[in-house]
Amino acid sequence: MRIDILTLFPESIQGVLGESILGRAAAKGILDIRCHQIRDYTENKQKQVDDYPYGGGWGQVMNAQPLKSCLDHALSDAEGLRTRVIYMSPQGQPFNQAKARQLKADYDHLVLVCGHYEGVDERFIEACVDEEISLGDFVLTGGEIAAMAVADCVCRMVPGVLSDEQCYTGESHWDGLLEYPQYTRPETWEGRSVPEVLLGGNHAEIEHWRRKKSLERTMQKRPDMFEKLSLSDADQKLVQEIEKDKKRRKLTDPLECRPAEEKDLPAIMEIVRQAKNSLKKYRVDQWQGDYPTEAVFQRDMENGNCYVISHKSEIAAFFVITMGPEPGYDQITDGKWHSGEDYCVLHRAAVKSDFRGTSVASEVIDFAVSEAKKRGASALRTDTHRKNKAMRALLERKGCRFAGNILINSEPGHDNRRQAFELIFD
Ligand SMILES: C[S@@+](CC[C@H](N)C(=O)[O-])C[C@H]1O[C@@H](n2cnc3c(N)ncnc32)[C@H](O)[C@@H]1O
Repeated sequence: MRIDILTLFPESIQGVLGESILGRAAAKGILDIRCHQIRDYTENKQKQVDDYPYGGGWGQVMNAQPLKSCLDHALSDAEGLRTRVIYMSPQGQPFNQAKARQLKADYDHLVLVCGHYEGVDERFIEACVDEEISLGDFVLTGGEIAAMAVADCVCRMVPGVLSDEQCYTGESHWDGLLEYPQYTRPETWEGRSVPEVLLGGNHAEIEHWRRKKSLERTMQKRPDMFEKLSLSDADQKLVQEIEKDKKRRKLTDPLECRPAEEKDLPAIMEIVRQAKNSLKKYRVDQWQGDYPTEAVFQRDMENGNCYVISHKSEIAAFFVITMGPEPGYDQITDGKWHSGEDYCVLHRAAVKSDFRGTSVASEVIDFAVSEAKKRGASALRTDTHRKNKAMRALLERKGCRFAGNILINSEPGHDNRRQAFELIFD
């Protein structure tokens, strides 16, 4: 793609378009971006490019002659190219991705003319310009910023400029949608975690989540764009899911925590079943056998160590806590415990699936800490499977520090390696 930009400020354009991705593509010969100083083509000694407007009024108007001579020069070696001469103007059609795609598909040479002052002599536009393009419904001082925007947007779609076609076909506006949210390291930043699905490595699930988020944020941020979409059957299903999610449970009342009773056992076991399925889905080899059984929770209850957290009398989560010392935590590798002997251990905890995405998981840790403090502990220790990224992210968000690696013996025949964490109270 060749682009000639006619301007009174070529340095400012070269400075921007000569950098980064476009600059590297130009250096490789994939792009040919040329800036022309209109002033060099004046036929007067003063090198004047503008004059007062006929009929009077404010400001100056750019003369047609230097513009035409500059254009002729730009076109002099462009024979055989599919050329489009475009005047950057607030009176043109507003620029968008579809326009950029069309320019890239239909032409291999764009000439972008930048006006300044009050604009350019109308006769130049009539005689030489194929099309006027506007950056938007506002007025800029000159056409340079608009020309750079058009050049950048068109050039990044030229093969070889970006590493892969998907770099731009997957982005906002390509197919009438906005792009899904993006995240990078660290997993938790200032208490905010990366969505669990992006950490699991299941590509089909990630694609499903991304398409759904694209639809959802287009609905929210750009209802005008959403209205124009013609949705496939698969997208319609996703929209139904989005509507369903909106109606999802919101925590309207405060959560309550109390010791679990025998009558709570079915609700606890249902949450265990859901947790097992979710761990299986994310290929976490934790709770994938019989453990934890009803008998385990019955013993926890008898010892007064099992608690349920309820919302409007519906059980939303459970946790089991015991006072140390915990023999299983004596052997720790790749680190060490920093807390003393007066610690509590958070053993088993899970949240009902309906309540995922609410603050219940976070409050499980808060309630466990408060129970541990009531028991006179000065720290809370716990462990989780290294692939249980959701739990790890939650623990880190709640201020728990990685202590080291331990081995457990409660799930024979399964991966018994666990990462240990601790939270030392103030
Ligand atoms: C101050 S403007 C002239 C505006 C003109 N008097 C009018 O009211 O239509 C000077 C130059 O900036 C450029 N320009 C200003 N706003 C623009 C926009 N929204 N899109 C593209 N170019 C723009 C044009 O090249 C224009 O000639």
